[in-house]
Amino acid sequence: MAAKVLIATYSKTGSTKRVADQLQNLIPGADTFEIKVPAGTFPNDMFATNDVAKEQIDSGNYPELAGTMPDFSKYDLVLVGSPVWSAAPATPIHTFLEKMAGFSGKVATFYTHAGTPGAYEQVFEQWAQGLNVLPGHAGGSNLQQWVDKLL
Ligand SMILES: Cc1cc2nc3c(=O)[nH]c(=O)nc-3n(C[C@H](O)[C@H](O)[C@H](O)COP(=O)(O)O)c2cc1C
Repeated sequence: MAAKVLIATYSKTGSTKRVADQLQNLIPGADTFEIKVPAGTFPNDMFATNDVAKEQIDSGNYPELAGTMPDFSKYDLVLVGSPVWSAAPATPIHTFLEKMAGFSGKVATFYTHAGTPGAYEQVFEQWAQGLNVLPGHAGGSNLQQWVDKLL
């Protein structure tokens, strides 16, 4: 039986969502989930958002998520999409990964950035402690190859 895949994405300005859409086309039958925060969690401005995210990381007060979480137990693989924020995943990803605690399937991240992803994947792995994390993908080309290795 084909592996059951969930593509869960946080995207503030649409770039990571575009990669999620490409992945959905590459993985027949994959479910999708939009990771959302309540309105007003982040300002519109990138630098102001960066300050809010930094404060969340420093204080350990990560943002609440909006809506009901998926039933992770239905999936063999969860792909988690995020923009790079200050060389780390966007802070809603921290909350999402906490909600995935106990998930025994595979987890891998895809991400988009403006040229300096820094230690994104290492930070993702730290935030995903206890989960079975496989190598990620920095958006762009070769998505198919990445997916083939994961499935
Ligand atoms: C708060 C904030 C911090 C960012 N920090 C970085 C960074 O450290 N390195 C980088 O290459 N791009 C950085 N960017 C750019 C985003 O990663 C990039 O535009 C991404 O594709 C946006 O994805 P989205 O449209 O799905 O939100 C940052 C953007 C924001 C809003």
